Amino acid sequence: MQTKLATSVGITLDRFIKKKQNDFAFASGELSQLLRDIALAGKIIHREVNRAGLLNIGGAYGTENIQGEEQQKLDVIANIRFIRALKNGGEVCAIVSEEDDEILDLNNKDGRYIVSMDPLDGSSNIDVNVSIGTIFSIFRRVSPVGSKVTDEDVLQKGSEQVAAGYLLYGSSTMLVYTTGRGVNGFTYDPSLGEFFLSHADMRIPEDGKIYSINEGSYRSLQPKVQQYIESCKDKKYTARYIGSLVADFHRNLLKGGIYIYPSTEKAPDGKLRLNYECNALAMICEQAGGLATDGEKRILDIQPKSLHQRVPFYTGSKKMVEESMK
Ligand code: AHG
Ligand code: MN
Ligand code: MN
Repeated sequence: MQTKLATSVGITLDRFIKKKQNDFAFASGELSQLLRDIALAGKIIHREVNRAGLLNIGGAYGTENIQGEEQQKLDVIANIRFIRALKNGGEVCAIVSEEDDEILDLNNKDGRYIVSMDPLDGSSNIDVNVSIGTIFSIFRRVSPVGSKVTDEDVLQKGSEQVAAGYLLYGSSTMLVYTTGRGVNGFTYDPSLGEFFLSHADMRIPEDGKIYSINEGSYRSLQPKVQQYIESCKDKKYTARYIGSLVADFHRNLLKGGIYIYPSTEKAPDGKLRLNYECNALAMICEQAGGLATDGEKRILDIQPKSLHQRVPFYTGSKKMVEESMK
């Protein structure tokens, strides 16, 4: 009997990054290293997430973040892990994090990059074994290297991102990122400790049949959004809402669909944060051929005014997002 081997394991993240290094506008190798640092932090979070039930790291930490949301233990752990990986790497001078009120100046004298991140997205799903994620945006600093980090450095428009991505801790762990030349997805093989290219040059279907919105807030939505939801129902579309932005986004990226977190009566600017949730996903979506808006204008063109600013978010298949804005 002939022994069948699994197909080749393929190209590792490291090799892929090296191969693509010359595509970067600033091909100094620093951004490559930074992406590796993020992947390393992702592996560590993968480990923690997968053992969360055994390590007593589920549940609340007993504190609140700047937006008055209860911090979960894993929110805090993921934040620490990412900060440590980025500080040790040396390429990053400052971090904006959902879990920290202020800019974190890492005092890395040679750091040219700023990272904005949501270290753990979908916190309410941690304790119920449902997919969660990490979101990151990478910018070049605009102030001189070695000087104090300024507001201008950390409040750049999404269109200035040099790279953006997310990690999804789901039925498998994935890293999906873009450096502005398409989107590529890597799946983690825990037995080898490596990410492998599994989704090359990802494209979101131009149209789709999945709509993702928290319909519990239906009564407090603007009539335009209500009408759009009704039109999805008329067309017998499928409703899918996990409650972890990364997971909802990822599904729609692969299958075609729209994700909406609109403005509500209670929260006129929606819930999601421009700097470390929406910008990264907007860049990925556009790079994959989709759209991301606040219901009226392009997310990537919005000038942030504060670190934790919220924004209504409509993203996904081009035709669906266009339709929802009519
Ligand atoms: P986070 O866990 O980082 O605070 O983000 C939670 C966000 C996002 O992941 C999700 O799509 C949204 O909150 C869900 O909000 P609702 O429960 O209001 O639908
Ligand atoms: Mn989040
Ligand atoms: Mn979070």
